[in-house]
Amino acid sequence: MKKILILNGPNLNLLGRREPAVYGTATLDALLEGLRHRFAHRATIVSLQSNHEGALIDALHAAQQEGVEGVVLNAGAYTHTSIALHDAIKGIAPLPVVEVHISNVHAREAFRHHSCLAPACKGVICGFGLDSYRLAVEALLAE
Ligand code: DQA
Repeated sequence: MKKILILNGPNLNLLGRREPAVYGTATLDALLEGLRHRFAHRATIVSLQSNHEGALIDALHAAQQEGVEGVVLNAGAYTHTSIALHDAIKGIAPLPVVEVHISNVHAREAFRHHSCLAPACKGVICGFGLDSYRLAVEALLAE
């Protein structure tokens, strides 16, 4: 059983009612429950959501100390702005971090095309709706 942290950033607590045409109608709790159910025999899923950059950085630091073996990170808009999160991901190497997005950020506004985090991450999965998270967990379990 691998211990996997699902880490969600700003506004992802609003899943289910936030721009449903882009992000779907399932809540964050439903997403997490679905992942725990699906990976019940293969992974221990722990999770945290925060709207605060520093709290996400603290969670990445703590992950390393708490025996987490892989991180699925949807940093929301911080993806496109946060050098501090980039440095945190680098700082916890070799703990693998997979960047995920629900939407296909490359098919959206230009300001979403750049990721500050991708160069520090093991890989990036985006555009598969909530299934992006499942694919990221699969990728971490296949490591
Ligand atoms: C997102 C894409 C980001 O550009 C946006 O700021 C989000 C959600 C996604 O999951 O598609 O908050 O990370």
